[in-house]
Formats: sequence, C-alpha cells, structure tokens
Amino acid sequence: MSISHAFARLEDEAAQIRGSSLRELFADDPGRVASLTFRLGDLTVDFSRERLDSAVLGALVELAEAADVTGKRDAMFAGEAINATENRAVLHMSLRAADSAAFSAEGDDVMSGIVTTRDQFLAFAEAVRSGSMAAPDGRPFTDVVNIGIGGSDLGPAMAVRALSPDADGPRLHFVSNVDGAHLADTLKPLDPARTLFIVASKTFTTLETMTNAHAARDWVAASGALQPGDHFAAVSTNIAAANDFGIASERIFGFWDWVGGRYSVWSSIGLPVAIAIGEEKFRRFLAGAAAMDDHFRTAPLAENLPVLLALVGIWRRNVMGWPTVALIPYDQRLERFAAYIQQLDMESNGKRVRLDGSPVDGATGPVIWGEPGTNAQHSFFQLIHQGTDIVPVDFILAREARDGTGDQHALLQANCLAQAQALAFGRTEEEALAVMLTDGVEASEAKRLAPHRSFPGNRPSTLILHDRLDPFALGRLIALFEHKVFVQGAIWGINSFDQWGVELGKQLAGALIPAIRDGDAPDDLDAATAASLAELRRR
Ligand code: F6P
Repeated sequence: MSISHAFARLEDEAAQIRGSSLRELFADDPGRVASLTFRLGDLTVDFSRERLDSAVLGALVELAEAADVTGKRDAMFAGEAINATENRAVLHMSLRAADSAAFSAEGDDVMSGIVTTRDQFLAFAEAVRSGSMAAPDGRPFTDVVNIGIGGSDLGPAMAVRALSPDADGPRLHFVSNVDGAHLADTLKPLDPARTLFIVASKTFTTLETMTNAHAARDWVAASGALQPGDHFAAVSTNIAAANDFGIASERIFGFWDWVGGRYSVWSSIGLPVAIAIGEEKFRRFLAGAAAMDDHFRTAPLAENLPVLLALVGIWRRNVMGWPTVALIPYDQRLERFAAYIQQLDMESNGKRVRLDGSPVDGATGPVIWGEPGTNAQHSFFQLIHQGTDIVPVDFILAREARDGTGDQHALLQANCLAQAQALAFGRTEEEALAVMLTDGVEASEAKRLAPHRSFPGNRPSTLILHDRLDPFALGRLIALFEHKVFVQGAIWGINSFDQWGVELGKQLAGALIPAIRDGDAPDDLDAATAASLAELRRR
C-alpha cells in the first residue's frame, strides 16, 4: 500500500469516527480501554480517550508500514547517514547503550570512543562531587553553572530539575540567555572561589554561550583568581576552540557530529546531571533510554509505544486537523519537560520540504506547549475545555510520589484523571441544568446559566503513566518522545535532524549588532527594521 492510499483509508475511518462521540465509543465497546492501552514494564500509554478506535489504529499501523518506518528505523540504528542535508549518521542511541553494544557510524565503530569518553566525564563528575577535583583554594566546588543554550541547556536543566530527589552533589545552575540578566542573577549569590563553570556547546561558537562564557571568566578573574581556567570545564565537539578559551584538555569532554544538540543529554552534555546525581544514577538514566531503544527496535509496530504515540499524533494532526498539542505532566519536577520536548519536536519536525527538497503536501510537526498540572488547570485549561479549538492533551502521571507527599499525591492524581474525564465526556446542558437544580439554583437562573456551565466533551487526550519519576523512568520517557518524533518525521518524509530554520535569524542578528552598538545601520536595511533601530536609539 502507498502512503497516499494509507491516508485515504484513514480519511474513511475518520468519516465514521467524526459521527461518534467518545461517550458513544465507550458505550459501544466495553473492551475499549483494554484494547487501546499499551505497556512496557510499568509504563502505560492509554489512548482510550482519543477520538479513534482499534480500526483506526490498524489503519495507522498500515500507514507506518507504507512509509517503511521499520526500514528507516533500522537505517538509523545501522549508522547510515540519514541526516542527508548534513551528511551525518544519527546515533544518539549509541550513547546510552551498554559498553558491550555494537554501533557504527557509516561503517566506523563508535562504541570504543563512547565508552572512553563516558568513563572520563563520569569520573570527572565523581571527582567534582567528592571534592577531589577541587577549587584552586583546595575546597570543594559548592556550585556548578552550566553555560549553554538549546540542546546544550534544556536537557540537563530539565533532567536536573526532574531528578532533584536524587541530587546529592553541588548545587547546579543553568545560564542560557544572552540577556545579561540571566548570568548576573545567577551569579549574584555565588562565591567565585567555589564556583565551577561548564561551557557546553557542540560548536563552541554559539553567540549566547560564548558571550556568557567570556562574562563568567571576567567575573572569576575580577575576584582575583590567578588561573580563571581552573574554574572551567567544557563539553564540545570543538576541542580546539575550548582549548583556545583557556580550558585544560583534561577538563574538556567531547562528543560527535552524529549527536544532534537536542539529542545530546546522553553524551557529555549530561555532565551537569551526572554531577548532580552521581555516576550510578546517571547510568540508570542511560539504561532507561536504552530499554526504550530496545523496545522501539524489536516490538511489533502495533505494540510499539513510540510508534503508536507517533501514529496517534499523525491522526490528530493530519487527519483530524488539530494543530497543537498540550503536554501536561502532573509532576512539578517535570516543569521544564514541555520546554525540552518543544525543542526536540519543533526543531526536528518543523519542516516544510521533504528529504528530496519537494514541498510536503500536508501538515508536519504540531505546536507543542504546556505546563505542569495542576497549575495549568488554573490558567489555560478553560480554553481547552470550552474554547473553539480542539487541543489534544498528553498527560503524564506517576503512580507514586518520590517523597513524603502521599496525600497530596492522591489529590494530584485525582485532578489529572478528572481533567481527562471532563475533556472526554464533558457535561451536557441538561446535565448542567440538573446539577444546578439539585444545588437549589432557581429554575430560570439555572436555564440562563446552563450554556455557560456545560462542557462539549469529546476532546482527546492520551494518558501516560509510570510508577515513579526516577532516573530510569526519565531516560525511558525522553527516549519514548525521541522515537515518536523520528517516526513522525519518517512518515512525513522530512529530515528530522537538521535545523536550518534557525540560521537566518542568527545571521541577521550578526549584521545588526554594529547598528545597535554604533548606529552604523547598513544602507539597504528594510524600512521596518530601520525604524525600530531608530526607536531603540532614541535614548
Ligand atoms: O540554534 C539552534 C541550535 O543549533 C540548537 O540546535 C542547538 O541545540 C543550540 O543551537 C546550541 O548549539 P551549540 O551546542 O552548538 O552551542
């Protein structure tokens, strides 16, 4: 079957489903939850509140077959140069593989380099934690500041926050924005004598990171440090540039061009995470992702969690036509998860041409956004329940809290399930009216209010459950989303592993810096930018 035939079949299925509400779908099929819930160990993904049924899932799996998802997956794992616009393999899975695993990039073994570098950066993390890698005055570092942006910031920042119950090392801080306020506010309470900086940049050329790294070095030097470089480590593929910055080779940890920035938390970019939680737990984090790799590589498409998550996303986006996804972890420690997945998904699949350069003929990556529940309930959930747009929601919830918040965790869980329930089944005007009358509201007033107090329901959500948010579970969860993004890109026929869309803005900013600093505007500047520059320079 061709991809277009598979989509045509999905349109037929959609014509049926559009005529049925979730209330009806549940009433018609008592086995619905069981047939639409999928598991890997304690990880459960429940699609029963999505606007689909088993026939739709079957047609979606046919789409995955038509798009040769398994062939493309195998090419990625085999280290073929599937990132065709940058002529690179895509092998972040190798970074979390066991030492004995076999991975090669375009035929060249990568595992021996990975094992060596992994051992080195984890040993460095342990040395910082124990104090054997000390500040120049011989005392342990109390604070570690990671300077990086995008993939060199979001992964470690998200993971350090998510795993805070596991953190027993120095305090971790993250500076990304070129807005000087970010660095200044971070450094304010810190002691330069006891602060270690990690300059994290795949290229070691990124404007924001290099600007902040130089400012941090000036801050250390201004404190009287004789060797500011002793307060720095680096993570980069550009070892020479890190050396030139003044960082000793034994404090520079490399990675490889076949690791995309947004897929790099498993590499030495994960150093801040390892410093926070230690080597053993960091290896559990890697093992969780490796378990998902194994599942993705071996499970049949119809039971494969990342494949199914991707296919349900395709159904939402391409067939039902819903342009955004709200990612709502009911877990405060996942407060940076939506921001992390935003980069992963939107930088990977925000593309408008296929691998061969031809325009795509439908929608690609959705807008991903979100905040933790229950906070989200008190801000934007109003629109998700009663607004004119349908916003599919991905809920993430743990069966257990990590610490002594037993009863609060019950409240958190109840709220998550209640939101999914309200979205799916809503409340009709008649039901709203009946509730108000029972509550003693006067009949004419109840009638007036009923349209405002009814909920359309029939709004889709997926519920992702796991036992608890620990290093293994976090690694597994991230890899679930990574492979979901891969499968969607494979079906759309786009390159999920480049990011040319961020380049133009970087180049234009470079040209505008002299204009902002010295009023030296280029003659051929467009009228809007010229006027904005003049406004900025009015004071
Ligand atoms: O601007 C986009 C980007 O290239 C991301 O893909 C990347 O994660 C980020 O910038 C940071 O790049 P680097 O690690 O090279 O500093």
